Amino acid sequence: MIYMSEKLKALMDELKVNSSETYYHSMNVKNTAVKMLRLMNEDGVTHYTKQEVDAICKGALLHDVGKLWVKNVILTKDSSLTPEEMDDIRKHPAASFEAVKDELSMDEYEIVKNICLYHHERIDGGGYAHKKDLPMHVQIVSACDVFSALHYDRVYRKAMDYDETIRTLEEGKSGCFAPEIIKYLKKATAEAGK
Ligand SMILES: [Fe+2]
Ligand SMILES: [Fe+2]
Repeated sequence: MIYMSEKLKALMDELKVNSSETYYHSMNVKNTAVKMLRLMNEDGVTHYTKQEVDAICKGALLHDVGKLWVKNVILTKDSSLTPEEMDDIRKHPAASFEAVKDELSMDEYEIVKNICLYHHERIDGGGYAHKKDLPMHVQIVSACDVFSALHYDRVYRKAMDYDETIRTLEEGKSGCFAPEIIKYLKKATAEAGK
């Protein structure tokens, strides 16, 4: 169970009401991250403590909460976004961190901060802020984020099937991911492909 303060619970409740798609997406990202973290720890690829795993899952749950401050018409627009609308969308990582930062313990602070701020960054510098030195846990949540975004229905388009989703990730069409990350994302989501 991940401990969430009353304010964080209220934010998630608000997200469920105002942008249920983002709310369920956040749940999916967290659920996939739990599986990936377990598999990577079991294989000794990562050595996260229980406390760190919980903090990463909390970051996964809260990464898009800043979309509460992006207009729904922009979030659900089914045609391409104007540069101004794109600017608004790109503010959501900082807005997520701003909304949650006072509700985090010292132990989880850096982990949740990095996930909120950098989940749209990629290891080759692709992304909103062109940041390259991404901690492993940010890359894990980012991969789960893209998987969820592509593989589940969005208001503005139908979901991609499992194979196409994985192909899109492998071909780098959603940004560059380390082979190891893709490998464990595939293992964690294999059920969805059956
Ligand atoms: Fe996001
Ligand atoms: Fe997301």
